[in-house]
Amino acid sequence: MEPEPYFPSPALCSTRWWSKETVAVVTGGNKGIGFALVKRFAELGLSVVLTARDKKKGEDAVERIRAQLGLVAPHHHVHFLVLDVSDADSIKTFASSFKDKFGATLDILVNNAAVSFNELDENSVDHAENVMKTNFYGPKLLIEALLPLFRCSSSSNSSITRILNVSSRLGSLDKVTNVEMKRILESDELKEDEINEMVKKFLRDVRNGTWKSQGWPSYWTDYAVSKLALNAYSKVLAKRYNINTTKLMSVNCFCPGFTQTSMTKGKGTHTADQAASLATILVLLPPHHLPTGKFFLLRNNTTFQQVANSKL
Ligand SMILES: NC(=O)c1ccc[n+]([C@@H]2O[C@H](COP(=O)([O-])OP(=O)(O)OC[C@H]3O[C@@H](n4cnc5c(N)ncnc54)[C@H](OP(=O)(O)O)[C@@H]3O)[C@@H](O)[C@H]2O)c1
Repeated sequence: MEPEPYFPSPALCSTRWWSKETVAVVTGGNKGIGFALVKRFAELGLSVVLTARDKKKGEDAVERIRAQLGLVAPHHHVHFLVLDVSDADSIKTFASSFKDKFGATLDILVNNAAVSFNELDENSVDHAENVMKTNFYGPKLLIEALLPLFRCSSSSNSSITRILNVSSRLGSLDKVTNVEMKRILESDELKEDEINEMVKKFLRDVRNGTWKSQGWPSYWTDYAVSKLALNAYSKVLAKRYNINTTKLMSVNCFCPGFTQTSMTKGKGTHTADQAASLATILVLLPPHHLPTGKFFLLRNNTTFQQVANSKL
């Protein structure tokens, strides 16, 4: 199936349902797309928690955003908390600090933090464990830790919990050539355990030196498998929280495309601000128009393309 174009109408994009009481968390907010996302949320008037694994880098980033937007204490609504998504203890501490500071008020989680250790033309898997821990297990553990802190859906449904997983088209199913793996991932009955098993198998293939012949994606393989797993997990989660077509939680993936950040050594077709601006439109769609279980690609730097579920 070809990707379907997805053009939220300008009216939908400007329907403002949120306020300063709406709370968003962004991981990896000290630079790149994460930084741009925090800035955009703050610009739109939400309260936003910038998180970073390095306290100084995170605090500096918050200062830069406050200065750029002219936010002055005590009216600023950009906060900082330390969070290393590859560290289970850091995730626990973060959840506890969030609860102490904000209570169970979380409306939006953007899992943005990720790593790749490859140059653009390389395909080493030397850091595969770390890549998996940061890009797949990190968002998964964080979602599990934050579940009790999401604001309950109100009767008007205006506070549907929103999770946006920043992913990559490198992790789409059409990059997998292992027929059995593809069959499992494409199934409507896909289970979380099967995704965990897939990641374990990949790491075993890496340890055994057989990863090149097992039908995994052939470009930026460890990174691509981490995003493949994240996409699959998002689909499972979206299904779990979409009961009898009542959306209790919206979970989508977003690929920002080739964006000028540290990950691409500054190369790319567009800026982090452009990518963030599109991502925030998606995550802030009004409740009754909010999709779930979808994978969106940034297209022509200005619109989205929705990838059919079969390719997730
Ligand atoms: N740029 C692209 O072309 C592109 C394309 C497709 C998808 N993406 C996705 O877009 C997202 C943002 O990437 P980017 O391009 O903005 O890259 P980036 O500039 O390298 O930023 C990555 C961010 O993640 C943080 N991070 C890494 N490991 C972390 C950890 N263990 N705990 C917490 N934070 C951690 C980094 O913090 P430090 O400064 O401490 O390292 C940094 O803030 C990623 O999910 C990436 O996979 C990017």
